[in-house]
Amino acid sequence: MAANTHEEIELAKLPIVRIQDVLLSRMIVREEAARLGFSSQALTQIATAVSEIARNVVQHAGAAGQIRVLKTSESGRLGLKIAIEDGGTGIADVDRALAGTSPGAGIPGSRKLMDEFVIGSAAGTGTTVTMVKWLSIA
Ligand SMILES: Nc1ncnc2c1ncn2[C@@H]1O[C@H](COP(=O)(O)OP(=O)(O)OP(=O)(O)O)[C@@H](O)[C@H]1O
Ligand SMILES: [Mg+2]
Repeated sequence: MAANTHEEIELAKLPIVRIQDVLLSRMIVREEAARLGFSSQALTQIATAVSEIARNVVQHAGAAGQIRVLKTSESGRLGLKIAIEDGGTGIADVDRALAGTSPGAGIPGSRKLMDEFVIGSAAGTGTTVTMVKWLSIA
């Protein structure tokens, strides 16, 4: 008797190495999100967050990364989960990056655009960002 059902289906997976992979990631995520029924505003928010986080891999990681796009459901609600990870240099001060006090605003901006945003990183271990947008049944 599972009161809290949780299911995930992988919709797409692709490497992030060069800038064109960022554009491709953006397109694919937008396509999958549209198929799930997200509003056009939500599509723009998801695509923007994906662009920023994928672009960080190309610009800052110094190593290859990958994006996984998953359909996720939890207790009856449906969402799109995006996991972007790399095996690069990592972020020395994650709290500072989240606060937006370090150079840019890609990380705090993406966090605001998504419903869930988890970042795991440490110097030398690479970076993992997992984001979820829930489909609102309005
Ligand atoms: N995947 C990553 N690997 C290593 N360092 C990263 C990674 N992503 C972010 N960083 C570090 O965190 C900082 C903050 O990232 P953020 O995206 O918020 O801003 P930015 O990339 O510097 O500028 P912007 O995104 O506004 O062009 C980066 O400057 C970089 O030092
Ligand atoms: Mg950035």
